Amino acid sequence: MRAVIAFVLAVASATATHAQTPDGKALYKEKCVMCHDKTGMGTGILSRRVKVAELLLRNDLNAAFVTTAARAGIGNMPAIPRGEVSDAQLQAIADFLALAPEAKQ
Ligand code: HEC
Repeated sequence: MRAVIAFVLAVASATATHAQTPDGKALYKEKCVMCHDKTGMGTGILSRRVKVAELLLRNDLNAAFVTTAARAGIGNMPAIPRGEVSDAQLQAIADFLALAPEAKQ
């Protein structure tokens, strides 16, 4: 019985740990890439005002800027609500996008 309880606790804590460290790269693909890949409309519109428009190729993004832009919306990008992307998920995406371009491939 004790072993069963220990097992259940171990599984529960592994699941909780996983939930606390969302995968920024996977989430970026799930939540952002439809507009921000090479041919996405986000990339198209951004190319009018920034030199490198694809977010994966940028080396000038910082996490605070990304979270603010995504939550408030920016220009033609709609604000992304917490119901769609939680704070923890958005932070993971922002930390990922702030990496150097080589680290994002
Ligand atoms: C519905 C399409 C769409 C989705 C989904 C989307 N974006 Fe955007 N995003 C845009 C557009 C369009 C722009 C350009 C806005 C402008 O300049 O008018 C933009 C701009 C940005 C910028 C500003 C870059 C700069 O240099 O000014 C950031 C940062 C950004 N998006 C992050 C994200 C993140 C992170 C996600 C996912 C959580 C996301 N976007 C999802 C369409 C989208």
